[in-house]
Amino acid sequence: MREKIVAGNWKMNPNAKDADRLWSAINEQNYGNVNVMVFPPSIYLRSWEAQQNKVALGAQDVYHEKNGAFTGEISAEMLASMGVNYSLVGHSERRTILNESDLEIRKKIDALLQNKLKVILCCGEPLAVRQDQKHKSFVEGQIESALSHLGEKEIKSITIAYEPIWAIGTGETAKPEQAQEMHSTIRKKINQLFGVESENISIIYGGSCKPNNAADLFAQPDIDGGLIGGASLNENDFYKITDSFS
Ligand code: PGA
Repeated sequence: MREKIVAGNWKMNPNAKDADRLWSAINEQNYGNVNVMVFPPSIYLRSWEAQQNKVALGAQDVYHEKNGAFTGEISAEMLASMGVNYSLVGHSERRTILNESDLEIRKKIDALLQNKLKVILCCGEPLAVRQDQKHKSFVEGQIESALSHLGEKEIKSITIAYEPIWAIGTGETAKPEQAQEMHSTIRKKINQLFGVESENISIIYGGSCKPNNAADLFAQPDIDGGLIGGASLNENDFYKITDSFS
């Protein structure tokens, strides 16, 4: 049985007072067998880690170096020492706006695994690539580049988030069949790289996932949950999404 996951990516939102309120509201709910996690701006992680929570905490990004003169950056060891369990890596906003390279993504994954953190690796194609019918090979390339150097044991700490860039924050969601096709492509790629382990890897969908479309997406055989941006900033919408598994 693959783990069901709903993860909230708050991106650069909200201010401290609203963040405290939202975090408390999210922790008032029960989520049954769904692994619910929140990725707030890292500045808030410290104030929440010590609490006993129903929701796991993750960072939106990490820097690959251990420590030293890297102004503004946060290391995997720092995250681990604060009780943080997860980190996103390679979100499309970091790849495109902040020019994060494939090599950088691989180094971040290695730093996280060395510090026993779990990784949510984001992948997904831009609109032009889909229009060109190259979306499968594009995403396969992202997976291969980020993961092919890992061993069978390490792959167990990885979750994949498939997020077509044309669906992120646009209100245009991938159709369930479109998302399923890509999740199945990703699972086959992982199978090619790591064999049977691919059956145990959760692959979650992101890109305008909302209460009104989550159930149809999560009903697909290779979709194991969602990475939620905009809708994770409202506790009621977020809860409804976590409650969308059939
Ligand atoms: P969205 O963002 O749900 O607002 O489209 C998803 C993401 O970027 O993780």
